Amino acid sequence: MSVAAPEPGRNMGQPAPRVDARLKVTGEARYAADFPAANLAHGVLVTSSIARGSIASLDLGEAKAVAGVIEILTHDNVGSAIKPLPFGNGSATSISPLTDAKIWHDGQIIALVLADTFEAAREAAYKVKATYNAEQPSAGFGSAGAETLPAVGQAQSHKEDPAVGDAEAALRSAPTVIEVDYSTPTQHHNPIELFSTTCVWNGDQLTVYEPSQSVYGFRAMVAKQLGIDIGKVRVVSPYVGGAFGAKGSMTPRTGIVALAAKRINRPVRCVVTREQGYTTATYRAETRHHIRMGAGPDGKITGFSHEGWEVTSRPDSYVVAGTEASARLYGYGAVATKVNMVRADRNTPGYMRSPPEVPYIYALESAMDELAIALKMDPVELRRINDTMKEPIKGYPYTSRALMECFDQASAAFGWAKRNPAVGSMRDGDWLIGMGCATALYPTNVGAATARVRLSADGTVRVQTAAHDLGTGAYTVIGQMAAERLGVDLAAVTVELGDTSLPPAPVAGGSNTTASVCSTVLIACDAIRDKLFKSAGQPNQGPVKAVLEKMGSGAIEEYAEWIPPGAPPDAIKKLYQGASTLKGGLEGEKMMCAFGAEFVEVRIHARTREIRVPRIVGAFTGGRIMNTRTAHSQLMGGMIWGIGSALHEKTEIDARHARYMNRDLAEYLVPVNADVPQVDVILVPEEDAEVNPAGVKGLGEVANVGTASAIANAVFHATGRRIRDLPIRIEDLL
Ligand code: MOS
Repeated sequence: MSVAAPEPGRNMGQPAPRVDARLKVTGEARYAADFPAANLAHGVLVTSSIARGSIASLDLGEAKAVAGVIEILTHDNVGSAIKPLPFGNGSATSISPLTDAKIWHDGQIIALVLADTFEAAREAAYKVKATYNAEQPSAGFGSAGAETLPAVGQAQSHKEDPAVGDAEAALRSAPTVIEVDYSTPTQHHNPIELFSTTCVWNGDQLTVYEPSQSVYGFRAMVAKQLGIDIGKVRVVSPYVGGAFGAKGSMTPRTGIVALAAKRINRPVRCVVTREQGYTTATYRAETRHHIRMGAGPDGKITGFSHEGWEVTSRPDSYVVAGTEASARLYGYGAVATKVNMVRADRNTPGYMRSPPEVPYIYALESAMDELAIALKMDPVELRRINDTMKEPIKGYPYTSRALMECFDQASAAFGWAKRNPAVGSMRDGDWLIGMGCATALYPTNVGAATARVRLSADGTVRVQTAAHDLGTGAYTVIGQMAAERLGVDLAAVTVELGDTSLPPAPVAGGSNTTASVCSTVLIACDAIRDKLFKSAGQPNQGPVKAVLEKMGSGAIEEYAEWIPPGAPPDAIKKLYQGASTLKGGLEGEKMMCAFGAEFVEVRIHARTREIRVPRIVGAFTGGRIMNTRTAHSQLMGGMIWGIGSALHEKTEIDARHARYMNRDLAEYLVPVNADVPQVDVILVPEEDAEVNPAGVKGLGEVANVGTASAIANAVFHATGRRIRDLPIRIEDLL
């Protein structure tokens, strides 16, 4: 596989290696569960073995007899000591274990065993005996008792189904119409760093060490759970070993561990097992889609209808509503959309990398291919004909949109022109060859942010902001922004992140960190320059080094706040209080999005039907690219995840018990190196001064959008078999 960082093109930063790389490979980087604490007690969770009903009794006798056991928290002794949190705004679920006996889903927390050692806590956890009043659960789509409701009116996050014109009439009169159904499965994030919480009380001050995409958000949530002031809580999360959305919203565990530490007057660490992570954190819900599309002989789409269904838990209205994106991607004529949610006895789903776009754009981009086939048209040409600089619902313009340039560059690099469009026409010995493509997009979300930057007379710079580095390179690109604006070397810059003792930054979600935080750091650095050059009586240009000598031994520190246009005026206050202030790239009167075009070759063995993806090429635009190495890694990783979505990933569920079956990395399939021989990333230069001061669009999530459809489209090209339910497996092609 080619892994070299691309040479920086126009509006791209240097491919600096990650500044934290050495700390990580030498084990010096301290992850949440690595922080030492004196007199540490260990907590192990016990989880329910039924999905619906209530706890009848808990027999703790044998568990308490294990040497070293200190205490066992259950609903009998916790109850109202923990305040249930409403769902949303940073809270992953309203399900509040240990506050009562009710069971909402399989694998719900029913006890926390505390002991002097991890081994004792684990042994005792196995010896907790629960009996239940069990009821028949509903696992999801098609299960008796699952309840289907329109999302609008229920889900806070989806106020209106995007629509324009008379889609029914357009579909009736279109000469070519397709009508198709798709589905995507449950997926789990499986970050390599396990979920964990370590709580240390010092008097009435609580410090929480937990891998987090939102330290300020977690601080607010745990304070609410415990009924204490947010000023009493500090959350520390300097390094995160993968998150993908699973560490963005707070789960009930944090408050339970904090309460446990208070009760036994000792620090407590609870590391969640891989298996427990499947049910005590969030996941990507399964979805279904019904799409209708009508087009004229010229390929112009005149009518588009997209209805989606998403599984959620009984009490929480979580939906991703990706029609917000699918309805705005092309210059359709009339549009009708609707999102439904299906309540079942499941833990509440949550954000997982490109939450709306992965399932909804998979459906759309597969349908685009089906429409191209129906029209006997090249699928790239169909996208070109329907490309638009204005979204069709309100006619709002895209600030920039180089989608077709992405298609042109990726198709040239891929060799699309050599593809024989006839289905089943390409073959190499025993291998059937298929080629497919798809569009990727991801909205440029931004949030209010703050940062403190200090320039010392010795030329060193310190940047402090409570942003998060999930392994993506945030330390590096934030440092690069400061180094560039102040004209110093990256090595002279120290960046501090992931701690509520620093000025607040947004949740590391929606791919907003680089855009929001680099914009804020830019503003702080420019304020420092202004001050410095003014006091030196010199014009503000060039590196600061020359002027620094006149500073003597002092330092200049600037604190900056950035509020994105259209954000509420109290956004900074909200940020300090831990509320989300993200503004979506598809929400305002200007559409802001990163784009991409992905081309894949699949090879399917003629007899065994083994499916391989020998190569994949993606070309992407994301405005300013801060660092071509970290951008390349994000985009390559995204496409690899897309291969997993297409061919590997699925959390199997036993419908009789509403229970996940493959709850570990041995049985939950993800691509390995042998599955991804060649992944090529092209960075298409783009400048967009409108999106934010840094000109950055964010690339964290765009690349795993569309990939699964490109592969499904290639499978069709190779075999003539249209597989509409992911993942695509050998048995689907027999
Ligand atoms: Mo991401 S799913 O926005 O953390």
